Amino acid sequence: MNILILGSGGREHALAWAVKQNPKTDRLIVAPGNAGIAQLADCAEIDILDGAAVVAFCAENAIDFVIIGPEAPLAAGVADATRAAGLLTFGPSAAAARLEASKAFTKELCDACGAPTAAYARFADAAAARAYVKAQGAPIVVKADGLAAGKGVIVAMTLDEALAAIDDMFGGEFGEAGAEVVIEEFMTGEEASFFVLTDGVNALPIGTAQDHKRVGAGDTGPNTGGMGAYSPAPVLTPALQDQAMAQIIRPSIAEMARRGTPYQGVLYAGLMIENGQCRLVEYNARFGDPETQVLMMRLGGQALDLLLACAEGRLDSARVHWAEDHALTVVMAAQGYPGAYAKGSVIHGLEALPETSADMVFHAGTRAQDGQILSNGGRVLNATARGATLAEAQARAYALVDAIDWPEGFCRRDIGWRAL
Ligand code: AMP
Ligand code: GLY
Repeated sequence: MNILILGSGGREHALAWAVKQNPKTDRLIVAPGNAGIAQLADCAEIDILDGAAVVAFCAENAIDFVIIGPEAPLAAGVADATRAAGLLTFGPSAAAARLEASKAFTKELCDACGAPTAAYARFADAAAARAYVKAQGAPIVVKADGLAAGKGVIVAMTLDEALAAIDDMFGGEFGEAGAEVVIEEFMTGEEASFFVLTDGVNALPIGTAQDHKRVGAGDTGPNTGGMGAYSPAPVLTPALQDQAMAQIIRPSIAEMARRGTPYQGVLYAGLMIENGQCRLVEYNARFGDPETQVLMMRLGGQALDLLLACAEGRLDSARVHWAEDHALTVVMAAQGYPGAYAKGSVIHGLEALPETSADMVFHAGTRAQDGQILSNGGRVLNATARGATLAEAQARAYALVDAIDWPEGFCRRDIGWRAL
């Protein structure tokens, strides 16, 4: 079959890499893609936020299956457009993607279905929000309701930080995303990510992971989109996964269906684990980045069969075939990230690296020019490896990192430390 993947990051490189291994794949196109993706698929320039443009491209290129990577096209209704055109699609409708696009919506859904999560209140004006925070005290968590590219959450350890966050959000720092603000109880515990495919009715867990959000060693410093990840996440024991399915995931899926907006795609649940219980931190309506890189390395070509079963409503009979393995990815970022950074530095040494089912450097932000690979973003490469143990996966991933010659980049040297 001919497959179109939308997106341009490490997540989409990993999805393309896995899909390409499945013999069902004939032609693979990624839009817009990046320099690494271009080595295994055709790349196309489409406005991926424009549903009509995506539908027209699919018709011209005889696409059979569309896989939507990032949240922005989901929130923009691209999956609605492709499904309306009769295209098999992986990814939720705009109405269902509200589970990521509106934090207030998700909190209200949790209330409706009894899913454990932090206590909260929602506000449409600063004065009421400030009064609430003063009454509650710190630490407390202030969130812009809408999509803010991962920056709309302030975990305020002091009252002053919380009040400043409220002023920033209602002052327009996050645009429309901050027109409404959700204020939450601060939860303590250990966080992990749980990935579940659902066709709207059936649910199939496809893996756990943990990422490292802080830029610095020992999980210190500013928040980033993720500096590394590993799978599985040992803290998400089988018992906790069962609890999350029973108390959080299945009730959410059932409530979405009951409301006439069934959720079809991957539900990425951020969970907080404490005292043998998990609570929902947030949902994302897409795969995580860089968590997908480790999930895809572990799933390989069967990932396509699972995404197809999800899109075709056949998850009741789908099974994941697990190897008892571990995968770990190290993000190589441009110096300065997550603050200001330069683009366009040359990366050497990639050609000589192994590309196997156990070692792969996924590209997150690169472009090719005159036969060279140039950095083209903040997070640039994802050195990803698999092993029989997490320690082996970590050693292999850092061996890839050490073979890359890119003085303008940096990475954390301690990815995986919590689990090792
Ligand atoms: P998000 O952008 O929604 O993924 O949130 C970013 C991070 O903020 C999460 O991964 C958590 O580490 C943290 N966070 C969000 N909500 C809470 C909460 N209620 N209590 C403690 N930490 C939180
Ligand atoms: N790694 C965090 C995310 O994809 O949102």
